Amino acid sequence: MNFPLPYPGLALAPASPQFIDRYNASGHGQLGAARELADGLNAAAASVPPKYFYDALGSQLFEAITHVDEYYPTRTEAGIFDAAHDHMAAALADAGITRPCLIDLGAGSCAKAMRLIPHLRPRQYVPVDISVDFLRDAAEQVQNTFPELAIVGVGMDFSAALVLPPQVQRQDRVFFYPGSSIGNFSPDQALAFLQRIADPAQGAARGLLLGIDLVKDKATLEAAYDDALGVTAAFNKNLLRHVNTLLGADFNPHQWRHIALFNEAQSRIEMHLEARCELTVHWPEGERRFGMGERIHTESSYKYTLDSMSALLRQAGFSQIKPWTDPKDWFAVFWASV
Ligand code: AVI
Repeated sequence: MNFPLPYPGLALAPASPQFIDRYNASGHGQLGAARELADGLNAAAASVPPKYFYDALGSQLFEAITHVDEYYPTRTEAGIFDAAHDHMAAALADAGITRPCLIDLGAGSCAKAMRLIPHLRPRQYVPVDISVDFLRDAAEQVQNTFPELAIVGVGMDFSAALVLPPQVQRQDRVFFYPGSSIGNFSPDQALAFLQRIADPAQGAARGLLLGIDLVKDKATLEAAYDDALGVTAAFNKNLLRHVNTLLGADFNPHQWRHIALFNEAQSRIEMHLEARCELTVHWPEGERRFGMGERIHTESSYKYTLDSMSALLRQAGFSQIKPWTDPKDWFAVFWASV
């Protein structure tokens, strides 16, 4: 990828990114996670929250998913950024924002933000992710590419609360939530999340750039979540390894099958892990028996229409809503200001 030369930044910009690890510091990494995982596994319909996909290997497997032929969202969204970045910068300027504090939620490799940074010219770039070590490396790479950019990396679980550390500038905050990650929340959770972004006591956003996956034919959707190389299957099963580490459980990934299906009534892709045989999983304070064919629900990925997402943004308190789409109308990037 070619980037324009770094734009003139702050005179005293740091040579390496600041990093604040709120995730491990909160102790959630141990006790809270174990409780949450045990509750999900003990439920009548077993489930594991999708945030547990993202240990270091899970983050790398997700990165690999974005390169498989069937997984269209990442490259389609990148095409929209490339075609519309000047319009996006103009939308921010219309809202009076010329040098935003760009807060990248679920930043991962930071590759998406790297496409936009030369055009949005943030005064501060704040990548946020639960996968702390992966993010630390990614933030270093962004700093190497944009040496003069002020970067504050934040390791945190932003799915429940969105109070950012004081090092994050309050002025002209623009949240960047690309990749259709909002689809991994239920519509109710998505509304609450958007409200937290807009809330002056939490995200305190001036605006939001949001990527969403649009409803389309079932075959295209299901192939995107069950690729021929089996990368998504490995990503799904890697969750079991991560649960073994966090909970001290004894899942055997060989005993589980990857399932991806489009639930049209709910407008969502569902990923499950299905037991190939009758089995029992143990952990220090519990166990769960699974019958053959019984499933663990590991992820929902909701697909929206332009109208349904516009309505949700309005309900959350955003205005000046503008979407850009690709030529096939498979994906959309929204700008919405508070
Ligand atoms: C991160 N998230 C938006 C992805 C999605 O498409 O829902 C996660 C994913 N799961 C399977 N493939 C990709």
